[in-house]
Amino acid sequence: MRENSGRFFVVSNRLPVSLVCENDRLSATAASGGLVTALNPVLRDRGGFWAGWPGDGGNAGARSVRQVLEPLSEERGYRLLPVMLSPEDVKDFYLGFSNSVLWPLFHDLQSRCSFSPSHWEGYLRANEKFASVVEKHARSEDFIWVNDYQLIPLGAMLQKRNPALSSSFFLHIPFPSVDIFMKMPKRKEILLFLAAYSFVCFQTARDRKNFLDCLRVFFPEMKASGRGHITKVTLREKTFLVGGLPISIDFKAFSRRGSSREVIARAREIRREIQGEKFILGIDRLDYSKGIPEKLRGFQRALELYPELRERMTLYQLVVPSRETVEEYKALKEEIELLVSRINGKYGTTRWVPVNWRYGSVSKEELAALYRAADMLLVTSLKDGMNLVSKEYCASKGRDTGVLILSEFAGAVLQLARGAVLVNPYDEDAVAASLLQGFSMEETEKRRRMNILRKSIARQNVFWWVDNFLRAASGKKLEDFPSREIPSLWPGVAEEEE
Ligand code: UDP
Ligand code: G6P
Repeated sequence: MRENSGRFFVVSNRLPVSLVCENDRLSATAASGGLVTALNPVLRDRGGFWAGWPGDGGNAGARSVRQVLEPLSEERGYRLLPVMLSPEDVKDFYLGFSNSVLWPLFHDLQSRCSFSPSHWEGYLRANEKFASVVEKHARSEDFIWVNDYQLIPLGAMLQKRNPALSSSFFLHIPFPSVDIFMKMPKRKEILLFLAAYSFVCFQTARDRKNFLDCLRVFFPEMKASGRGHITKVTLREKTFLVGGLPISIDFKAFSRRGSSREVIARAREIRREIQGEKFILGIDRLDYSKGIPEKLRGFQRALELYPELRERMTLYQLVVPSRETVEEYKALKEEIELLVSRINGKYGTTRWVPVNWRYGSVSKEELAALYRAADMLLVTSLKDGMNLVSKEYCASKGRDTGVLILSEFAGAVLQLARGAVLVNPYDEDAVAASLLQGFSMEETEKRRRMNILRKSIARQNVFWWVDNFLRAASGKKLEDFPSREIPSLWPGVAEEEE
């Protein structure tokens, strides 16, 4: 290994695997969400470190956690570094400030926020724990890449511990407008923490603009210059860069999987299993930002307004479990159950069940087969940083066509507007009309649109994203990093953590 070359050092709240402890046995399951989908292929390609929380199962103790993570690191080609959080951290930092303040507020859903001073304390305390792990393993020449809203203070904390450790930040969720951001407690602190990174990057130009607007309001003395997708900002004698770059997927991997013999065979089977001429697919984490009830109501409205669609189109909604201990999420699951049963009770016949839904995760192959089999993908996010599912659908299609119905409030819309059917998820009639449009769309039009979508996603894939991110942050490209190296732990560190 080239000891002096900088390595990739990714930090995110969650590791790409979550540990669960059942009957005193610790095992790993794949973590869900777009952050993991996007960063995993990059680290698999280059190696390096990925530091994060291993989930609730992590309470089993450092030694057992390492026993599970060591072989997984070898298998994946990069080193998984666990950051252990106490149940109190999980309550105040993860469920509290991260998911009861930042998540709802940044998704413009302020009425879902609950503020408590202990949340902020927990947020800082847990970020210090991340800082302590990163500080132990990182070297000044490493590229430290901090991800997402849970870890906004981390860059400043690292700098304080070791001024040679500079880091860059990517926000995977939207950044709200000034009017909404103003409502947050600790708003100035959050802005200053972001300003401590050498590069702060958002998903879209709109998010970047919102951040710059907020800086201007709270720090009128700040100076911004530069055109294009990178802005140079000077604040309190420090200069940093601000960018907007849409995250993406490993297009080739999804495309290859979607065209494998097994996936095509399974897609055919799914088509036989699903009743009705047209198969509409929904895939979302259980999250109120995804607009799942709005989707169901829009589907019901389509059956009401257009009787000719009855018995001819079926919705299959996969809901991937997420944040199950949060009340809001439990209530959402119940709401979905109720809506599905109402729709099926009202419109179902002996031959046809209008909505099938599953609460769980599926394998990559099953996911590819679902994408490949579906005539339409219906995305109705009320607000979404990007929405990778919409990109995965198009990438998996191979030679088949399909219609992407995409919420106007997903970050992906800025890139996919020309090929998708756009919809306002708050408008049931509009969702219903988009389903009718997708149902009756000519094959040539579907192909034309799908070609536009696939071309754009193939070009701006995850490697394009990471290259642009690295270039802006460090002047380096992905290939400048050592290829597939699993860094060893510093001598003595493993023992210290016992
Ligand atoms: N996904 C998953 N498990 C599943 C089904 C889907 O992990 O059973 C993945 C999906 O492939 C996608 C991610 O979850 O990569 C969701 O990302 P998206 O950007 O759409 O939304 P997020 O969950 O990050 O808000
Ligand atoms: C989104 C967020 C990620 C988060 C993921 C899953 O993709 O941007 O930061 O990890 O959802 O949520 P969870 O709370 O289970 O980590």
